[in-house]
Amino acid sequence: MNINLIKSSFYNEAEIKNKLCNFILNSRRFSMWKLCSKFERSFSDYQNRKYSVLFNSGSSANLALIQALLNLKILKKGDNVGFSALTWATNPMPLMQLGLNPIPIDVSLDNLNITSKNLIDILEKTDIKALFLTNLLGFAGDINNIADICREKNILLLEDNCESLGSQIKLKKLGNFGMAGSFSFFVGHHMSTIEGGMVCTDDRNLYDMLVMVRAHGWARNLSPERRKELIEMNQIPEFYNLYTFYTLGYNLRPTEITGFLGVEALKHIDEINRKRQDNFKKFKKAAEKNKNKDFQKLILHHMDFISNFAYPLVCNNKESFERYKKKFLQKRIEIRPIVGGSIVEQPFFKQYLKERQKKYSCPNAKKIHEFGFYFPNNPELTDVEINIICKILEEGCKDEN
Ligand SMILES: Cc1ncc(COP(=O)(O)O)c(C=O)c1O
Repeated sequence: MNINLIKSSFYNEAEIKNKLCNFILNSRRFSMWKLCSKFERSFSDYQNRKYSVLFNSGSSANLALIQALLNLKILKKGDNVGFSALTWATNPMPLMQLGLNPIPIDVSLDNLNITSKNLIDILEKTDIKALFLTNLLGFAGDINNIADICREKNILLLEDNCESLGSQIKLKKLGNFGMAGSFSFFVGHHMSTIEGGMVCTDDRNLYDMLVMVRAHGWARNLSPERRKELIEMNQIPEFYNLYTFYTLGYNLRPTEITGFLGVEALKHIDEINRKRQDNFKKFKKAAEKNKNKDFQKLILHHMDFISNFAYPLVCNNKESFERYKKKFLQKRIEIRPIVGGSIVEQPFFKQYLKERQKKYSCPNAKKIHEFGFYFPNNPELTDVEINIICKILEEGCKDEN
């Protein structure tokens, strides 16, 4: 039996596939339209945000967010922007691609995320204009304290929440602590639209700008009032209205299939998140009973709800890392490095650092990169599968060579 990271492309796969077939057979338009808007409205309700903009991926959501902040002149080229050293590559990539200066910030071994202490440490070395932090694997650091520091020091706070849909601290959903939060709906994430992403915000100007950045920099998808304002301000003759490009943009639009799948998937999100949290609690309890105390302990008392993405096992040293890696693979449990590992260790970032001849040390991210892997937590895991994993965690493993 294989225990895979992802069991299927959709939760309730058979039902969704059927509905998707009917949708395709009975629809006449597949480019971005009503179902994308419907998904955006229901996602805003779910997330408790005023506005949501749907994209064709989480990476596109991150790219559009940074471009929109540049277009609005909230950020400018050359600004220092802090980011979590342990994240996915397309979190810092848009910063680099768009001429900002990415500053990697180390994470805590207790929760794998940036904490206020990590932020204070970096602020002693350099100023930052914005912090684009990642809420990794359904966890967060003391994000309320981070938000307070950002407010006090006038640092723009943004959250990459691609891995933490549904997690909460003090009854507030992750993704709602800063000006905007981004989300991914790629297969295997909390909800799947095959490919897909979102940015949520309460800021009307940012919302309008994201809508323009998503589609060519034009104004077609704005409200009629906002379009009128732009037409008047730029004195655009009617003939050119639809073909006027007001700002820098891309084509990052989703299709109606994304919208359809999003609306359907959101109906199950509470159930999915509950299962992820229940599984997570079982794994955590088992890891804490480990006979040889081989693992770093996760300390997450500050979180009220943990919609865990996958379970990260960080071993105390290289030797135990190799031992557990071997054991999981022997038992045919799929494992992989923790997200993108330490970004500072990735070739694309090393190359960038070399160019600027700067060194940032992120020892905890490095340790997680070198001694850690993650194993499956998905809402379709069976009790038998969960018990197989818990047994390894509890009983530990010896080198059988
Ligand atoms: C933290 C984080 N940010 C961004 C992304 C990019 O999302 P996508 O795969 O939808 O482009 C991912 C993807 O897994 C992620 O984990």
